Amino acid sequence: TKVHHHTFVIEETNYTRLCYTKSILTVNGQFPGPTINARNGDMVIVKVYNRAGYNITLHWHGIRETRNPWSDGTEYITQCPIQPGGNFTQRIDLTNEEGTLWWHAHSDWDRATLYGAIVVRPTRGTAFPFSKPQKEIPILLGEWWIANVSQILADLIRTGGDPNISDAYTINGQPGDFYPCSRKDTFKVLVEYGKTYLLRVVNAAINNELYFAVAGHKLTVVCTDASYTKPFTTDFIMITPGQTFNLLLEANNPAGADPLAPRRFYMAARSYSSAQNVSFDNTTTTAILEYTTGSSPSTPAAPPQLPYLPGYNDTNAATVFTAGLRSLASREHPVDVPQTIDRRIIITVSVNLLTCPGATCTGPGNNRMASSLNNDSFRNPRIDILEAYYYSISGDYGTNFPDRPPSYFNFTADMIPQNMTFTKRNTEVKVLEYNTSVEVVFQGTNLLAGENHPMHLHGFTFYVVGRGFGNYDEKRDPLGYNLVDPAYENTVGVPRNGWAAIRFRADNPGVWFMHCHLERHLTWGMDTVFIVKNGKGPQERLLPPPPDMPPC
Ligand code: C2O
Ligand code: CU
Repeated sequence: TKVHHHTFVIEETNYTRLCYTKSILTVNGQFPGPTINARNGDMVIVKVYNRAGYNITLHWHGIRETRNPWSDGTEYITQCPIQPGGNFTQRIDLTNEEGTLWWHAHSDWDRATLYGAIVVRPTRGTAFPFSKPQKEIPILLGEWWIANVSQILADLIRTGGDPNISDAYTINGQPGDFYPCSRKDTFKVLVEYGKTYLLRVVNAAINNELYFAVAGHKLTVVCTDASYTKPFTTDFIMITPGQTFNLLLEANNPAGADPLAPRRFYMAARSYSSAQNVSFDNTTTTAILEYTTGSSPSTPAAPPQLPYLPGYNDTNAATVFTAGLRSLASREHPVDVPQTIDRRIIITVSVNLLTCPGATCTGPGNNRMASSLNNDSFRNPRIDILEAYYYSISGDYGTNFPDRPPSYFNFTADMIPQNMTFTKRNTEVKVLEYNTSVEVVFQGTNLLAGENHPMHLHGFTFYVVGRGFGNYDEKRDPLGYNLVDPAYENTVGVPRNGWAAIRFRADNPGVWFMHCHLERHLTWGMDTVFIVKNGKGPQERLLPPPPDMPPC
């Protein structure tokens, strides 16, 4: 195994965006943070130093971390945070991954600026299942607030209402030409006519699903969440926070070879906001794709065109795009979809209310906003669940996360009685027997507001076997599943007022977080934990903790 060593120093650094300078959390002073480059089968060891004034953790999103949740980096789930002045060494085991993933902070909303790409190329002696691109370009989509993000989070918790929306989206940390004081730093990609480029797109935004497109060019999806797909050509993508797509872009616009034509094209992203009556950042971020071929420097550059992007509430466009995703399912990249299951877990995914002590909340009806899975709104424990589990510390969490919604009603009706919207708080997890085949059906609800929820599971990649609108029908809907070549993902968008079914084998012992990747919903409690028990064999057991676990 090839081992790569990295040192990540988390520190506050001044950055200027949208005409204002503020101190942000960075790794090694860089924003976005450093890219981790490796190959399938490699091991990456990252020594993380916390030189910031806050408790922080770092997570490697989409990495299986077989038997080693100790390195997963989720605050109060797999570790207590790295305290200011502390450090922690984490291992990223790339045995199972090939494609684009990313790393991000997993404490409070620190991931707003603490994120970077993980690029995993094919192992030596093997190749991409498509011709080698001329160049590979990470495209990290993010979100920027002029205020400090820790203040945005503090206000969210204090008021109990919706969070303040962001002031910009960003591409590789830059807002682009349509924002104040940004034009000179707009991210630019230089291309040659006739060559093919691989865009490695990550949605690192905090609270927004995004449409992304490149003017004058088609995009061919070849990989999602580090799993190859059947190539599928599209004018735009819809990407949820947490997801990644590898896109082939052929630099074949005729203007690219014409010295007199404008040879610059915008790539752009803006919100797909599936909830009604929820305010969102409706600005557009851009970067520039520029042809270097056929150019004569004296040619005046005409202004680039914006690409077509679907409307912010165009759920149909999002649905059509998502339905096109299929695993490659080739001999080199086979699928292994569980054809039968040992258990089905049905989980409602809701935005709810909790009553507010005092009259200080500005949420609906002077209550405060909350979120839940099966009407459990998760509260972080005092000691991380992994250590409590490993050392059998009782009283930290319960194991009664329900297998079914506590009550059945018309989850996706237009009007749901308001008294249904209240939830309860607790710290309940789901225990899974080793190697069982598990199906989880996420059922969206229209409590308060129906919305597309990007549900993410740590420690696994799963097959998205079905998806639909309305209420899941346990008799009828499984008949329509794709058990042949479903997309293999770590984050699934549960359609607004609909459902999504995933399957995986519980063959990774440990403690694994599962949550909505919209940060406001995670803060409100849209999360729980799967504990996968040890198997019998020595290779089927959770590894022991490293000696430098941060103290609780
Ligand atoms: Cu991308 Cu729990 O994380
Ligand atoms: Cu959500």
